[in-house]
Amino acid sequence: MTPNSFISPQPAYVPGEPVERHVADEELVWTEDEQQQIAAFRAQYPTHDGAVMKGLWLAQDKFGWLPPEVIQFVAETLEIPYAKVYGVATFYTQYFKEQKGQFVLDVCTCFSCQVCGGYDILHYLEDQLGITKGETTDGGLFTIQEAECLGACGSAPMLQVTNGPYVHNLTTEKVDALLADLRAGNMPGFQSVTLPQDEDELGGNRRSDTDAVTTYQTPPVSETLH
Ligand code: FES
Repeated sequence: MTPNSFISPQPAYVPGEPVERHVADEELVWTEDEQQQIAAFRAQYPTHDGAVMKGLWLAQDKFGWLPPEVIQFVAETLEIPYAKVYGVATFYTQYFKEQKGQFVLDVCTCFSCQVCGGYDILHYLEDQLGITKGETTDGGLFTIQEAECLGACGSAPMLQVTNGPYVHNLTTEKVDALLADLRAGNMPGFQSVTLPQDEDELGGNRRSDTDAVTTYQTPPVSETLH
């Protein structure tokens, strides 16, 4: 998971003050199976705080997103303050504080992706879908988000689809193919990416100027270990 550096527009829940409700009280009930899962989460940690992330994840799975009343529901379930649960939910982009589209496209624009064209990909997607980051297309099919590092820097630029599969080494052609697949209801499959261990495995060097080949050449990992 990655920290959310973008301010959530969701207003903080203040106990006792009216908030716009999205989930009715009678829906805020765990099934027996969910209760067992929560009990298992709690058992893994010395205090109930430890189960916050898994509890929020389960709640998001159940309700689709995390409006204030659902965050409060998780807090009451784990018997910890609302503020603690709210703090965790708003720290990560992967927890949805607003209703999202069916496919949430998290485009990484952190350092490696940024220098490899992450913003070009983000803006290309915005152009193709006619929305800007943070927005959802009419009909609710796609949401675009800008994400911090998703831990796949070696295959930058990349994006993640709805907290699931990664799409690596993005080009505009790959974005076109991805959108067509998603429109047809097909999620991308898991893609194994082999990272080059030295410049030879790149078939020479990604850069075309010969000087850069020497300047940016890095020794194979096996040599750096000794
Ligand atoms: S910088 Fe994009 S995955 Fe790390």
